[in-house]
Amino acid sequence: MTISVRGVVARAKGEPVEIMQITVPDPGPGEALVRVQACGVCHTDLHYREGGIGDDFPYLLGHEAAGVVEAAGDDVTEVRPGDFVILNWRAVCGNCRACARGRPWYCFSTHNAAQKMTLGDGTPLSPALGIGAFAERTLVAAGQCTKVSPGAGAEVAGLLGCGVMAGLGAALNTGGVTRGDTVAVIGCGGVGDAAILGARLAGARTIIGVDIDERKLEWARGFGATHVINSAAADPVAGIRELTGGFGADVVIEAIGRPETYEQAFYARDLAGTVVLVGVPTPEMRLDLPLLDVFGRGGALKSSWYGDCLPSRDFPMLIELYLDGRLPLDKFVSERVSLGDVEEAFAKMTRGEVLRSVVLF
Ligand SMILES: NC(=O)c1ccc[n+]([C@@H]2O[C@H](COP(=O)([O-])OP(=O)(O)OC[C@H]3O[C@@H](n4cnc5c(N)ncnc54)[C@H](O)[C@@H]3O)[C@@H](O)[C@H]2O)c1
Ligand SMILES: [Zn+2]
Ligand SMILES: [Zn+2]
Repeated sequence: MTISVRGVVARAKGEPVEIMQITVPDPGPGEALVRVQACGVCHTDLHYREGGIGDDFPYLLGHEAAGVVEAAGDDVTEVRPGDFVILNWRAVCGNCRACARGRPWYCFSTHNAAQKMTLGDGTPLSPALGIGAFAERTLVAAGQCTKVSPGAGAEVAGLLGCGVMAGLGAALNTGGVTRGDTVAVIGCGGVGDAAILGARLAGARTIIGVDIDERKLEWARGFGATHVINSAAADPVAGIRELTGGFGADVVIEAIGRPETYEQAFYARDLAGTVVLVGVPTPEMRLDLPLLDVFGRGGALKSSWYGDCLPSRDFPMLIELYLDGRLPLDKFVSERVSLGDVEEAFAKMTRGEVLRSVVLF
């Protein structure tokens, strides 16, 4: 059996997305069918439609979502129909070399649904990050469903499915920010602001937000930035050093994914400090740094995949902090839109008008 639902598809590189009828199979072994309730528009969806992630068009976009499990394969024990879940793109396998060493947040063999969703004519779809949640129903691996308290509501819970988790985790997990640290975040979109929030949650003493858009800097202050720098008007490396006693920050988080801003992050950190790259670069980008500086400045140059999160550990905990009033996740929701508004949401994101547009179903 299959069902036919509406979904947002990127058919070809650089072309506007379209709403199309998609065919979703019944869940087989290890799979779950989820009725999507909310899905945020992440910059990574735009990367997909611009061909920046791969060439496996057509893509079924959307991956920052929450909803209710509608059906599950016979062997599935993790979730049951009716469960409220956040969709994750790290369904750990339990067997790969990372999992075997007790580091499942790096799992190198994450699960996705085995069956393909297709267009009406049978063309297989590539779901963004193995999820594809700009659709009324989506088919995922059961392990991609993380059960959380329904108290938070789907539009807020879904945020943890990608960008907000990536930013929080870049600070908390990858960057290891701790009380008393100085932190700079370059790029204050949804991901960067979540990194600012994470740094604040961890007790960082100085938190510097850097962006080229004044509106973004104002929002960054709202999430806990103690200082902001408009890098269109001032040198951010000099600015960050000045705000940190002339030394640079302990942790600098790059949340854009560009060589020039990575270089700023590299030079804006203190000796033995940490750079975290959470922004996603595109294939043509190159970096040119004096190797002597890489050695001489010491410390750690890290990348943060999905904030090095472990969904089963982090999602329920972060939802509890939200429900307790300690994590203002609702501030990320700039607007609520419908399935037909994704292209317009990309435009608003590009113009810097929103942190997150969330598609509600
Ligand atoms: N590592 C992960 O697991 C992960 C997860 C989700 C998203 N991402 C990536 O994180 C990045 C940010 O995502 P987002 O949703 O916050 O995007 P966004 O477009 O909302 O935010 C980007 C911000 O960077 C600012 N900016 C652009 N160029 C700049 C420059 N030269 N100097 C300073 N600021 C500049 C923009 O004004 C904007 O505020 C993207 O590359 C996205 O693909 C990574
Ligand atoms: Zn694994
Ligand atoms: Zn994303």
